[in-house]
Amino acid sequence: MTYETIEVRRLTGGCGAEVLGVDVNALSNRQWQEVRHAFADHGVIFFRDQSLTPEQHIAFARRWGPIDINRFFKPVEGHPEIAEVRKEPEQTANIGGGWHTDHSYDEAPAMGSILVAREVPPDGGDTLFASMYAAYETLSEGLRRTLEGLRAIHSDAHVFGPRGYHKTTGEAVGRIGNADAVRGEVVHPVVIRHPESGRKALYVNPAFTLRFEGWSEADSKPLLEHLYRHATRPEFTCRFRWAPGSIAFWDNRATWHYAANDYQGERRLMHRITVAGCKLSA
Ligand code: SIN
Repeated sequence: MTYETIEVRRLTGGCGAEVLGVDVNALSNRQWQEVRHAFADHGVIFFRDQSLTPEQHIAFARRWGPIDINRFFKPVEGHPEIAEVRKEPEQTANIGGGWHTDHSYDEAPAMGSILVAREVPPDGGDTLFASMYAAYETLSEGLRRTLEGLRAIHSDAHVFGPRGYHKTTGEAVGRIGNADAVRGEVVHPVVIRHPESGRKALYVNPAFTLRFEGWSEADSKPLLEHLYRHATRPEFTCRFRWAPGSIAFWDNRATWHYAANDYQGERRLMHRITVAGCKLSA
C-alpha cells in the first residue's frame, strides 16, 4: 500500500507501524482512509505527540464503531466509556501483564482497543504485541488443518470473578471490580477468519482461553502451551516505548499484547477505550 497523506513506518517485520504526520483530532477524509488501511495492514498502529482530551479520545474511538464499555475496569471519573489502566508506585502487580487479547471472554469480542498514555515511568512500561496472522501462517500445514476443526472455550470468571485472579491480590482494589458481572464460558473458533481482512488468524490466548471444546483442561494444555510458545516468537512481535501523548490502537482479532511490568516504584496511567466487535467465525 502506498500512502499519500500520512507516513507509515513499520516497527518490525512481525507487526506494528507508527503513523506519522497526523493529528488524530483533525484527520482529513483521505488521511482517515489511509489510517484505516494502516490499521488493517499492520494489526497495531501507533501515534506520537498527540494531545487528546477524554472527549476527543471518545470521539476518535466512535469513528471506528460503537464503544464496548469494559465491565471490570475502573472508569475514568466522569467518562464511563474510558477504562483506567493504572499502576501506583506502591503497587507491584500491573494490569495486562501477560499475553492476551482484550474481551475474548465475550460472545462478540471487542474489535480494537485505543490506549492513550497519560503518565509514564521514566523508563520501562513498554507494551509488546504479537501478530496472530503470523502465528497461524507459520504453523505446519497439518496442525493448521487440525486447528481449523477446533473451537475453544474462553471465560472471564477465573480472572475477574469472585474467586478469580484479581481477588487473590488486594492490589486490584480500586482498579478492577464488579466481579459479579462475570458471564462465564463462551466458545470461539480456534482459527478465525478476520471479519474485515478475510485472513486467517489464531484465536486462543493464555489469559482467557480455558480448553478446547470437548477436551479436558489437562488434554488441552500441551497443545495450547505449544501454540502460546509459537505465537510469541520474537519474529512475530513488536515493542512500543510510550511517552505522554502516545496512542496505540490494536486489533484484538489480529494481535495479542503484553504490558511489561518493569517499573516498580513508578506511576503509570493509561486511558483505554474498547471499540465493539462482532461474533467471530471460522
Ligand atoms: C491492556 O492490557 O489493555 C493494557 C496494556 C498496557 O497497559 O500497556
